[in-house]
Amino acid sequence: MSSLLVDDIGELVTNVAGAGGPLGVRRRAAVLVEDGEVAWVGPAADAPAADRRIDAAGAAVLPGFVDSHAHLVFAGDRAAEFAARMAGEPYTGGGIRTTVGATRAASDGELRATVRRLHAEALRQGTTTIEIKSGYGLTVADEARSLRIATEVSTETTFLGAHVVPAEYAARPDDYVSLVCGPMLAAAAPYARWIDVFCERGAFDADHARAILACGQAMGLGVRVHANQLGPGPGVRLGVELGAASVDHCTHLTDADVDALASTTTDDGQSATVATLLPGAEFSTRSPYPDARRLLDAGVTVALATDCNPGSSYTSSMPFCIALAVREMGMTPAEAVWAATAGGARALRRDDIGVLRPGARADLIILDAPSHLHLAYRPGVPLVRQVLHNGVPR
Ligand code: NIG
Ligand code: FE
Repeated sequence: MSSLLVDDIGELVTNVAGAGGPLGVRRRAAVLVEDGEVAWVGPAADAPAADRRIDAAGAAVLPGFVDSHAHLVFAGDRAAEFAARMAGEPYTGGGIRTTVGATRAASDGELRATVRRLHAEALRQGTTTIEIKSGYGLTVADEARSLRIATEVSTETTFLGAHVVPAEYAARPDDYVSLVCGPMLAAAAPYARWIDVFCERGAFDADHARAILACGQAMGLGVRVHANQLGPGPGVRLGVELGAASVDHCTHLTDADVDALASTTTDDGQSATVATLLPGAEFSTRSPYPDARRLLDAGVTVALATDCNPGSSYTSSMPFCIALAVREMGMTPAEAVWAATAGGARALRRDDIGVLRPGARADLIILDAPSHLHLAYRPGVPLVRQVLHNGVPR
């Protein structure tokens, strides 16, 4: 068993709350990695001997980012749709069907190449866990293969057969819901940990969404919901009702939605249903940002994720989302960094990632910067100098 010491860390974000504030910041620290796990965290002066050493040279070290919401399995490009939006067109989600057509026409090899390219792109920017949804196949075979390909790079895979009703079912949406709950779920479930529904006007209403999510739960999948993205609606409260790990987007919330999320708060002070905010989507659709401050002040746990997809948010960059959250959504830099690491872990119901303590996965990033503040303070600058994933330098 070989050991690796990350030494001379100027600022270590552990996310172990205590003396170091909510981010559990330690100064002049070191981290010992053994067998892909964190074996020891402590003062650099007390660091144990190790087989290999990485000198952080006074830089900041953080847990790897946990991107709990991404759609990486697709084909095609919608740059022209983006350009049209920047010229004043609204975002309606109508372009999803364009990507469905391109995805169905793509070979397994093409889809696999895109997933691997985006996964590698995210890893370079410090993302060590990424959730990946299906949802651009929308046939039994295309949803199953999307998830099978996603499992090649992530264990956090989500069945989103209920993304939109595909064109061939437009006149009979009830039949599509039956397909999703029956043969499509059966084919997808072996490759999925989660089920998700786009609960929105123009996609799935509360009754359809509830039926689909309940079928997924009966098959052992955890629940997540695309909720309240384009307007107010029932998605957030449906997610709370079903015990969802996360409701995502949360751009248009009523007081009742915020109260419902806050009511899920558990003994550890975190809400059981996390509000995952996706500022890349508001950036790329030129829409008003969600109000993170309102959620945080109500005691709701907030996560940040990219929503990486070819339509509404074609970014894989968690640092970009942190910068947007701080500048546009009322979050402090510390809150945004927590939300992009521990918050994402909470949204995936994981306690082995998003945190640096003995026993956690050795997923960590070394910045080209002295503190986590620089992630928002220096937007657009590639500050992730080195990534360790499962203890392995990448
Ligand atoms: O999360 N809102 C639904 N789905 C994606 C967008 C998909 C697309 O436009 O292709 C989202 O933003
Ligand atoms: Fe999404």
